[in-house]
Amino acid sequence: MNDFLLKINGADVPVRAPGEETLLSVLRNRLHLTGTKYGCGEGQCGACTVLIDGVATRSCQARLATSTGVSITTIEGLEHGGLLGPVQQAFLDEGAFQCGYCTSGMILSATALLHDHPRPTDAQIVGYMDGNVCRCGTYPRITAAIHRASQ
Ligand code: FES
Repeated sequence: MNDFLLKINGADVPVRAPGEETLLSVLRNRLHLTGTKYGCGEGQCGACTVLIDGVATRSCQARLATSTGVSITTIEGLEHGGLLGPVQQAFLDEGAFQCGYCTSGMILSATALLHDHPRPTDAQIVGYMDGNVCRCGTYPRITAAIHRASQ
């Protein structure tokens, strides 16, 4: 066990855990930020996506020891004062989910996409979101939600 200080959703968060523990495990099991989902655990599905310094990152592949000194944003950090963030609201407005398991990762990847491409084309959306898998196949509605959020 070691002591670490993470910056999560704008707050300094002390964590005592093995440095090799995944960031995903720390978020879910130690900090109870369960909006970040465990899908494959192997970097393949995108369900565990968080933003690290604004970059969409698979938290199942990040280690606690290398997650200090950066700004981590989880799905919980996109809501402010009881109001959903614009990408969250767009997903809701477009019904861009079915089971919802991929949704947190999708929204965080979409947030990073819209930072890089404020008015993305369909091709940019498909390319950027390629690493996020929706087993329910709601891709057309996810694309519509990203377009809505870009307006
Ligand atoms: Fe991390 Fe699937 S759980 S990519």
